[in-house]
Amino acid sequence: IKSYGCQMNVYDAERMADLLAPIGYRMVEEAKDADLLILNTCHIRDKAVEKVYSDLGRLRRIKTSRETSTHPMILAVAGCVAQAEGEEILKRTPYVDIIFGPQTYHKLPEMVARAHRETGTVLETEFPLESKFDHLPKPKARGRYSAFLTVQEGCDKFCTFCVVPYTRGAENSRPTADVISDARSLVAGGVREITLLGQNVNAYHGATPHGTELGLGRLITELAKINGLHRIRYTTSYPAEVDDDLIEAHATVPKLMPYLHLPVQSGSDSILQAMNRRHNIDAYRSLVDQLRHARSDIAFSSDFIVGFPGETDADFQSTLDLVDEIGFISAYSFKYSPRPGTPAAASLGQVPDEIKSQRLKTLQRKLSALQAAFNSTTVGSKLPVLLDGHGRYPGQLVGRSPYMQAVHVSAPTKQLGNIVNLRIEAAHPNSLAASYEGENYRRAIT
Ligand code: 5AD
Ligand code: SF4
Repeated sequence: IKSYGCQMNVYDAERMADLLAPIGYRMVEEAKDADLLILNTCHIRDKAVEKVYSDLGRLRRIKTSRETSTHPMILAVAGCVAQAEGEEILKRTPYVDIIFGPQTYHKLPEMVARAHRETGTVLETEFPLESKFDHLPKPKARGRYSAFLTVQEGCDKFCTFCVVPYTRGAENSRPTADVISDARSLVAGGVREITLLGQNVNAYHGATPHGTELGLGRLITELAKINGLHRIRYTTSYPAEVDDDLIEAHATVPKLMPYLHLPVQSGSDSILQAMNRRHNIDAYRSLVDQLRHARSDIAFSSDFIVGFPGETDADFQSTLDLVDEIGFISAYSFKYSPRPGTPAAASLGQVPDEIKSQRLKTLQRKLSALQAAFNSTTVGSKLPVLLDGHGRYPGQLVGRSPYMQAVHVSAPTKQLGNIVNLRIEAAHPNSLAASYEGENYRRAIT
């Protein structure tokens, strides 16, 4: 399974593997070794979509070379491109055997059986009434210390640039008992950190067994009671739907990490309005202030789109000013990509590509400088790091700081899975180097 795009796709890919294990499939590294190859695709920007079609072209050769073997390859396209362009895939790449959207992958074993049985392409891109979550096995820890857990899917916000409401469907929250029981089984399997996932995770309102509903802040408070779970994160946030309970959770739940991805998209009120974002810059500022008041060490990251239709030099300057004002410690930034069927794609005032490229370069330079500056401020201090993997060099472990910085350290393997206080010795643009002070570590639960 090859995943493109967001963390939700990474999570979905694992769940597909869980569904296929009982019928005899296991993961392989190389496309040429796969009996079933699934591209779990992303539709968010044009580039991501074109990548899928070019990968399909290459895979066709592998598939053809195995046609006469005892194990012909089944080729499947999943995810948001499948959902949005099922018919187009059929036309452009008729050699694909299965096309299925994000809401139907619980039927994967049945689709694979049909692909073996039938000629032609199996197409499953409906939004079924039943929830796929009711048909998925419990998620597995798989030897990891940090795991994703989907709590909410879909989006009703219809930002004018975005395909997600069309590909992932309407907002839908999983019942709290299901989320808590999945979290417990991940923790029982050794997971120490859980990142709650949702396209608009702030819209979470899960049904409780008492017939009431719980928002994200209170769900986090409940999850924090699980012994052995040391860190909680959530993503992706929609600023206009961060409520008081969630802000309160940042103040009262030490396990909730002081790092928040809070996409603002633009620093200009008129562009935000054209994007249908439902927050203006004053509201965003005030939200950041409230969160900082709740947890003084909280740090922010964001997504930015440059060259949205109608964006002037002055609008772009407002974005640069906001970046300085908030001091984001990391961010993703993109050139606006017109997506078929979204309102902004038909707007007048499309910005020429050269201007988009220039603006992106300017913004990314500023964001990188801020990230480097933040990384430098940690040098000489101690940070609690969840050591969750082996580094590139012998004896090296890697982990994450509370602020999602990658940290490298020479430390004994037995520290894997522990949160260890490490002294930060050096800052690189995208990571930190730390020293480990023998057995004398303090186990920090933050
Ligand atoms: N063009 C460019 N960037 C986009 N994003 C979403 N849609 C588009 C688009 N049409 C960005 C937003 C969002 C992130 C996941 O992708 O910044 O937050
Ligand atoms: Fe897309 Fe996020 Fe806007 Fe929903 S809130 S439409 S997922 S950008």
